[in-house]
Amino acid sequence: MAYNEDFELVEALEPTVRKLMAEHRDRRKHWYFHDLIPWEEGRSFVKEPWEESQATINERARTSLVLNLLTEDNLPYYHALLNRYMPEGSAWDEWTRLWTAEEGQHAIAIRSYLLTSRNCDPVELEDDRMATMTTGYFPDYSRPAELFAYTSAQELATRVSHRNAGKITEDETAFELMRNIAADENHHFMFYKGVMQAMIDLHPAMALEGILNTMRNFQMPGVGIPGFVRRSIEIAKAGVYNLRVHHDNVLMPLLKQWGIGELKGLDAKASELQAALMALPAEIMGKAERFEARFGTAATASV
Ligand SMILES: [Fe+2]
Ligand SMILES: [Fe+2]
Repeated sequence: MAYNEDFELVEALEPTVRKLMAEHRDRRKHWYFHDLIPWEEGRSFVKEPWEESQATINERARTSLVLNLLTEDNLPYYHALLNRYMPEGSAWDEWTRLWTAEEGQHAIAIRSYLLTSRNCDPVELEDDRMATMTTGYFPDYSRPAELFAYTSAQELATRVSHRNAGKITEDETAFELMRNIAADENHHFMFYKGVMQAMIDLHPAMALEGILNTMRNFQMPGVGIPGFVRRSIEIAKAGVYNLRVHHDNVLMPLLKQWGIGELKGLDAKASELQAALMALPAEIMGKAERFEARFGTAATASV
């Protein structure tokens, strides 16, 4: 955090964070991934090496699950980002630890499913994990309004993406697993959305600046994931996550739920930011239409 006003904001919002965290603990019931994995299908990869013909779900679904898993594998870097800027011993810090623990189950669960059901090449998956984690995706944000605007959008985006990936597997186990993970992301989204709402109420100009900076160039984290562009295009074409899905299921709901268009009494700077934010959906939709014209109309699995 570079500015005094950032420290003041973080300090002023500590009671809000405590309240939102208590609500989160009441709302979220812990689930156990071992209940959902088809362990009885597991076999030795040494005695019976993996072959693609053993896969039980379609190729696009496999690509989507692997990409979503590698995004979850990046968790230490998300943790480091929040840990770097949030005061030690504060409610913010307590939340970061709780959130990290809950997130930690996601990669374990998806990896267990993929390996047990033989829906990925285990060597390639491990090599990709190594490449992803040794590079590490570290979003370049340092101000609280940016960090929490980013995490709000990121949680909502992963909720949509996990749920859609589960749908296109056409496999009951995978669907159920991804539904549980998506539900977690939704709980996290509600926490971050609440933090951001409090920032908007307290300091609209700073909050709107953070939202604009992060939403203008919002991307699913992917630097360091081998073949990220190719894989992203594939999941975009499958309708799991693409610009139209982003527009309809992330950007529009965020702007609406935070009431950005209805904010009144803003100073000149905040009004300018508000106008720029309200112009974003049309820009994103223009990009979505250009993508669809180039790659063919995307099927939409979207929730
Ligand atoms: Fe997650
Ligand atoms: Fe999450």
